[in-house]
Amino acid sequence: MMMRTFQTDCLVIGAGLAGSAYALQAAKLGLSVELLSLAEPLAANSDWAQGGIIYDTSRDPAALAHDITIASDGTANPVAVEHLVHEGPRAVEELLLDELAIGFDRDAAGTLDFTREGGHGARRIIHAKDATGHAILAAVAARVDATPKITRRAGWVAIDLLTLSHNSDGLADRYEPLTCFGAYVLDTATGETVAMVAKKTILATGGLGQIFLHSTNVPGSVGHGVAMAWRVGARLIDLEYVQFHPTVFAKKNAPRFLVTEALRGEGGVLRNAHGERFMDAVDPRGSLASRDVVARAIKQELAASGEPHALLDLSAMTPDFIRDRFPTIFERCLAHGVDITREPIPVVPAAHFACGGVHADLHGRTSVRHLNAIGETGCTGLHGANRLASTSLLECLVSAKFAALADGTDIVREKFRLPAPRPWESPTREADPVLIRQDMLQIQHTMWNYAGVIRSPKRLTRARRILIELREEVQSFYRGCRLTRELIELRNAIQTALLVVHAAALNPRSKGCHYVVEEE
Ligand code: SIN
Repeated sequence: MMMRTFQTDCLVIGAGLAGSAYALQAAKLGLSVELLSLAEPLAANSDWAQGGIIYDTSRDPAALAHDITIASDGTANPVAVEHLVHEGPRAVEELLLDELAIGFDRDAAGTLDFTREGGHGARRIIHAKDATGHAILAAVAARVDATPKITRRAGWVAIDLLTLSHNSDGLADRYEPLTCFGAYVLDTATGETVAMVAKKTILATGGLGQIFLHSTNVPGSVGHGVAMAWRVGARLIDLEYVQFHPTVFAKKNAPRFLVTEALRGEGGVLRNAHGERFMDAVDPRGSLASRDVVARAIKQELAASGEPHALLDLSAMTPDFIRDRFPTIFERCLAHGVDITREPIPVVPAAHFACGGVHADLHGRTSVRHLNAIGETGCTGLHGANRLASTSLLECLVSAKFAALADGTDIVREKFRLPAPRPWESPTREADPVLIRQDMLQIQHTMWNYAGVIRSPKRLTRARRILIELREEVQSFYRGCRLTRELIELRNAIQTALLVVHAAALNPRSKGCHYVVEEE
């Protein structure tokens, strides 16, 4: 069967906040956009962001820049930090406040309510109760659906990027500089593989938390963009810096889910099983220290005591305040037998955010021509070795806007070579789902146990050995079977896991969320 080929100005892979905001901005410039998502657009990490988004109206951007830099353990890229603190407020105003009028919490006089999270020296985070990401992404997705220049395709999974050197049917194209011109994509509903040819390809696939056993991320967050970019030779950076969120719900036999840091911003305190405020001895900021410090302290406390979890004590807040300000957490915990107006929340850390990713400049440009990486997938160095709370949604907005504006200019000025891609050939044998599930679990257990919150050279060496062997198996499995979302996910997960372990093993210096001990 002939392979169908689609053509567009911008192919956006991932429809979370970064991908969707890019699509809206590009469409405003008159560009055509294909916007792909693994599943429905609200099945994105952006949707699950609880705490809020920084809207710094203090007229003192230096204070925010200082907090981002301190949280990063002094390693953030100052140029990226300056860009975010100066451009952030306008990006929030333009899209979220003026255009979409998101229902952020306000007082009776209509003034925005600002909250605080770990590592912040001021209250500068706006929020919609404890479901900020959902409020934002639902409004953005509705606007995307009402924008004729954007074609949104749910369940369309990118397989591999197209480059002139690898996939063009023109032989001379292999002498061109490394240039992306779209992607092969699987329509999971029909099983058809198509080519999406594009002037600009934008990786906005979110994070990689699902390569770990415990994660706050949505299913499918296995670093798709990182793995695809690596396969075409793009520059990757800072992959060892995987942030672990200190507090996910941890009751036996209940699912793990994010317990927002804003609870600590409003007075919640971490305690051990004896009721001691163990963070006070670790950091002068106590329970509001930056995430790397808190996650590590919880791990160490639990290792020393043998307890299964720490406790988040909310007794400083009234029951009415808790129910009104944190309705999502309240309901979710109650559904699993914990009434947070009366008892503390059992919590442990879980993989949350990739501070590194595909190296990108402030316009999302990667080392591959016409390939962008934005949001969590790209890495400008904004977060350095550890991210400050509530910067991620803001980074999505700012990186999307500047990438789309730059692409709009390029598309007018440049000539693009968009050849016919070589046809995709796929075997017809069905993959055994039991093998896929087992291989994925092996990746997740290996990453959690050997490349998690506390790492050692010995553990990383062992992880690498296991993953290299597993990759061989996954690759032969992948080559022999009909493509499915699960198989694509497994292939990318093993590659991303190896890249994280490789980066961690090469960096003996503990910084931010990469913490290496000589031997455990
Ligand atoms: C949270 O609400 O604690 C998560 C938000 C973030 O990662 O910035």
